[in-house]
Amino acid sequence: MFSFVDQHGIKVTLSFNKNVFSIPTTHVLVLANIQEKWLLTKHTKRGLEFPGGKVEPNETIEQAAKRETTEETGVLISHLEWFAEYMVHDEKPFCKVVFRATVDSVETNFEKFETEGPVWVTLQEFFKSTNLSFHMKDEGMRKMLKQVMIDERRR
Ligand code: GTP
Repeated sequence: MFSFVDQHGIKVTLSFNKNVFSIPTTHVLVLANIQEKWLLTKHTKRGLEFPGGKVEPNETIEQAAKRETTEETGVLISHLEWFAEYMVHDEKPFCKVVFRATVDSVETNFEKFETEGPVWVTLQEFFKSTNLSFHMKDEGMRKMLKQVMIDERRR
């Protein structure tokens, strides 16, 4: 496990082992790519971030990940693989599971985005971006993306 303090001064703990936190998962985040391009969405206030959000009642975390990705980007995903989880020790602490996923299709005419829609970037572009959401710039995200790059080289 790895702990750090994020840009909002909140302690966050990241784990690459499953089910280490004692509270249920209420948030999800999705890392999906087509070759070297990774799927982000532009949140109206926070800026660029991987798609994700809150799990709704009576929904599995996988269903939430698929729904949020489609709502925020118009992209349909499958083959979700658990990748990491982190706990945000906010006033009301919450646990977020991070999935890797395969892109099945991209709806080019999708117009009902909850955000400003999809943005495809390389990881090099991601690291150089000046418009990232605060939680995309934290130490945990950097650790996760380093692991993604290692995994990609092995594939
Ligand atoms: P829905 O689409 O309505 O589910 O909401 P959302 O997309 O905003 O959900 P998300 O999980 O991205 O964020 C919900 C709230 O949790 C927001 O206030 C975020 O700022 C906060 N939040 C999400 N992830 C993190 C994180 O890694 N660290 C911190 N400190 N806050 C986070």
